[in-house]
Amino acid sequence: MDVVIAPADEIGEIVADDIAAVVSDRPDAVLGLATGSSPLRIYDAVAQRVANGEVSLARAGGFMLDEYVGLPPGHPCRYSTVIEVDFVSRVDFAPGAVRGPDGDAADLHAACAEYEKAMREAGGVDLQILGIGADGHIAFNEPGSSLASRTRVKTLTAQTRADNARFFGGDVDAVPYHCLTQGLGTIMDARRIVLVATGETKAEAVGQLVEGPVSARWPATILQHHPRVTVLVDEAAASQLALVDYYRHTQTHRHLVS
Ligand code: F6R
Repeated sequence: MDVVIAPADEIGEIVADDIAAVVSDRPDAVLGLATGSSPLRIYDAVAQRVANGEVSLARAGGFMLDEYVGLPPGHPCRYSTVIEVDFVSRVDFAPGAVRGPDGDAADLHAACAEYEKAMREAGGVDLQILGIGADGHIAFNEPGSSLASRTRVKTLTAQTRADNARFFGGDVDAVPYHCLTQGLGTIMDARRIVLVATGETKAEAVGQLVEGPVSARWPATILQHHPRVTVLVDEAAASQLALVDYYRHTQTHRHLVS
């Protein structure tokens, strides 16, 4: 696991460099897209590069991590709407190239199975972007999630509903109780993973993710078993890392393979 500490306002450009390199190597690359606040600067940076003609996603695809249950298409808080507004509409993806699980399907279990199939048929995710919840969730795999889980229906914790009420005009009662989410096993299938976290509220979760025991109590700790993960954090989110000096040292003395 690579831990990189950088100012919050540089994180977007750092990950945009990664995305640019991935689609330059493989124009039909598949990106894994998180919603929420954490990836916004990344999406801004990539949108800018697409506008400048430096990057094109015209042949790329995308899979979202999760979706609320029961929000109809077009609902402003439905993640498919959010990703459309925050990212897809600002870049040059082909129509339909970015997909998410259908949280409004009549048969949610079938929708989860279809989503897994679509990801498999697309050849899997080349670069997965992740945020992390204060309780250590990635996608909506809340504490207690099976470390081998696949896309399924989950019940959100009270903390996640309270944290996300800001997207629902501050009304926690408007936040759905359930979601469809890629499982931890699904996320682990991605060929590379970049997790971004900023701010003090993420410090404990980041500490557990990088240095804690692998446990369903902190679902993100499963990433310790992935061979290619970069954790990109600002000083505040890094503040509970015991080995922070070593991570800085590795940044200064990076071993560059020619
Ligand atoms: C969203 C998602 C979540 C968020 C996490 C952090 O698709 O999968 O795991 O990444 O809740 O949210 P923010 O970035 O809003 O703090």
